Amino acid sequence: RFMKKFLLAMMMAFVLSPSFAINPPDEGMWLPMFIKGYNYSEMQRLGLKLTAEQLYDINNSSLKDAIVQLGDGFCTGEIVSRDGLMFTNHHCGYSFIVDHSTTEHDYLKNGFWAMSREEELPNEGFHVNMLEYMQDVTATVLAEVTADMKESQRRDHVTKAINKLKEEHSKEGRYNVVIKPFYEGNEYYMFVYTTYKDIRLVGAPPSAVGKFGGDTDNWMWPRHTGDFTIFRIYTAPDGSPAEYSPENIPLKPKHYLPISTKGVKMGDFSMVWGYPGTTERFMTSYEVAKTINIDNPSLVEPFDQIIPIYREEMNKSDRVRLLYADDFASWANTWKNKQGETNSLIALRVKEKKEKQEEILTNWINADESRKEKYGDALPKIKAICEGINANEMKTFWYANVVLMSSKTVMLPYSFRIPLPDIGEKKVSLTAEDVQQWLKEYDESYGKIVDLPTEEKVLVATLQIWNNVPEENQPSIVKYAKETYKKAGTRWAEAFAADVMEKSIFTSRERLEKFLSKSYTKKMYDEDLLVKYNSSLIQALFMSQSTYRDASTKINLPRRSYLAAIREMEQNKPMYPDANSTMRVTYGQVLDYYPIDGVHYLHYTTAQGILEKEIPNDPEFDVPAKLKTLIETKDFGPYAENGVLPVCFLSNNDITGGNSGSPVINANGELIGLAFDGNWEALSSDIVFNTELQRCINVDVRYVLFIIDKYAGAGYLLKEMDLR
Ligand code: ARG
Repeated sequence: RFMKKFLLAMMMAFVLSPSFAINPPDEGMWLPMFIKGYNYSEMQRLGLKLTAEQLYDINNSSLKDAIVQLGDGFCTGEIVSRDGLMFTNHHCGYSFIVDHSTTEHDYLKNGFWAMSREEELPNEGFHVNMLEYMQDVTATVLAEVTADMKESQRRDHVTKAINKLKEEHSKEGRYNVVIKPFYEGNEYYMFVYTTYKDIRLVGAPPSAVGKFGGDTDNWMWPRHTGDFTIFRIYTAPDGSPAEYSPENIPLKPKHYLPISTKGVKMGDFSMVWGYPGTTERFMTSYEVAKTINIDNPSLVEPFDQIIPIYREEMNKSDRVRLLYADDFASWANTWKNKQGETNSLIALRVKEKKEKQEEILTNWINADESRKEKYGDALPKIKAICEGINANEMKTFWYANVVLMSSKTVMLPYSFRIPLPDIGEKKVSLTAEDVQQWLKEYDESYGKIVDLPTEEKVLVATLQIWNNVPEENQPSIVKYAKETYKKAGTRWAEAFAADVMEKSIFTSRERLEKFLSKSYTKKMYDEDLLVKYNSSLIQALFMSQSTYRDASTKINLPRRSYLAAIREMEQNKPMYPDANSTMRVTYGQVLDYYPIDGVHYLHYTTAQGILEKEIPNDPEFDVPAKLKTLIETKDFGPYAENGVLPVCFLSNNDITGGNSGSPVINANGELIGLAFDGNWEALSSDIVFNTELQRCINVDVRYVLFIIDKYAGAGYLLKEMDLR
């Protein structure tokens, strides 16, 4: 899951879409329903032994029935036993592991293993989707749409048609029907799912295995991470989906993946099935420039200040670590990803490559009058929109987003809305019962989940970052704080934050209780320092957001027309649509690479590397004593190959965030690994696929089995699997 939870509701990504050179076999996130026509013969040539019907069939069970979407797309899982056992990544199960952890039972640190079904842990709010079938519904969705229609009219027609289709296919709520635009709304596809809601945690390795190498190794090869977690899907006794209940029984899957213990070799066929979240392979050169120069730095800069503070505090205390672990993991993941993306976009000359493609397209358009009429505007319009964007306002937009996302304190007045009168002078008086209710909510949404000294340090940083932004684009609180705390000189932000901590009704339960217990006016509320801070930030966000929204709305139409032009120019070539959290297949091979001149990276790593990387007691590179002994004594059970225990391997499969946890499958349809990351040299991969450099980082399933069996002593789980 690259960037789980990262999307604030307020952030709407520019979602664009594939590349339009001939796709090499490794590139492409293909729709399962088209494999037979587009890809199957090539897959066979690469070594695949299964029939097209064994891959995707809607009348009989097929491989697709073992692939599961986690939530509405934060990750992927796969069914690996007749009793509904499901593998995914450790970083996908992370927030559930954190939820079950306390300083006394620190499953995040020490791992968790249910030694019987009774010990498996239910997870509130966790659901998974299983695809029943998919269907092209373009003709129905666009039936009433005409070329000269206004965008808003078009949207109304599309929404109406989609709602009708959903109604028809949901079969009285039995199915969860999702309809999504493809190729910028030139096409629409429907996905019909069964949604399961009783998902229990069965096993998780300690972070020293599941997240070995931490953020230092994240997004990089060579890797030594056992990034897996095990869940089990439960159903009602009659097999239908149901909320958690002790009466529920393990899912009887239509299909589950057998597991290969034979290992992988260079050049072996490998395919990854899963739910990639977002790619922007049809991004234009203008948008690439904007990503490099405006969007990415504006996301990275505030994190530069905020992340080290959390890291330091979390390393000092287990309690603080558990409070922030889940959010921190996704911030740090995004922070590093965006830096890597910028590096790769520049190093791989992506903008220049896009310019060449745009030139080809433009020549093709200009060669014909009717094409000129249909498509001639598209690229010039996209260019004008991108170049018309006010960079400082965009900076404010991203900064404000990052601050609100990464400081629970700054966000608090916005998320925790205590009752207020509409008119300034009117008073509110709450009953004692109401006050208790509000306090309870406060405890749950803030009081029990933050560490105030950490919050204070972060608060300081969230003010100081604005020094990077021109004064007229800063939220008004910055000027206010600088003036009010003039006496503190350069330490104005510290002085402001100290006052917030000492005086705000939100940073103390007692002060909040006192405030709520007396009658109060909106004016009294507005004078609170944190309220002032929060409102000024929200205001800055809304002002800058209109710039952002404007640009992203205006760009829809020229982007759709740009895509239609590419589709027409390349009509004889199979083309894959951008990732959009729908089921996709990518196929290729187990493969090494050459990251820089003079350096060759092997396609696999071994347990020896874990010892080489070991730094005792380091939060990222500590090696648990038991694991160390197993490796030193080569006590690998049946999971080694010639006395060597494999850990991770590489393939040239085309994945992105959302694919995390996806099965890597061999020519016989057997599980050989779990995809969990992308590599540093090709982090521009969401925008362009690079054949030489882009690799998919997988944990070898033999290492997974070794950890379950030899390290955790949960070998009983292997009995319900089909090991081959
Ligand atoms: N980069 C991975 C992804 O986005 C997440 C890896 C999690 N591991 C970590 N050390 N943060 O899919």
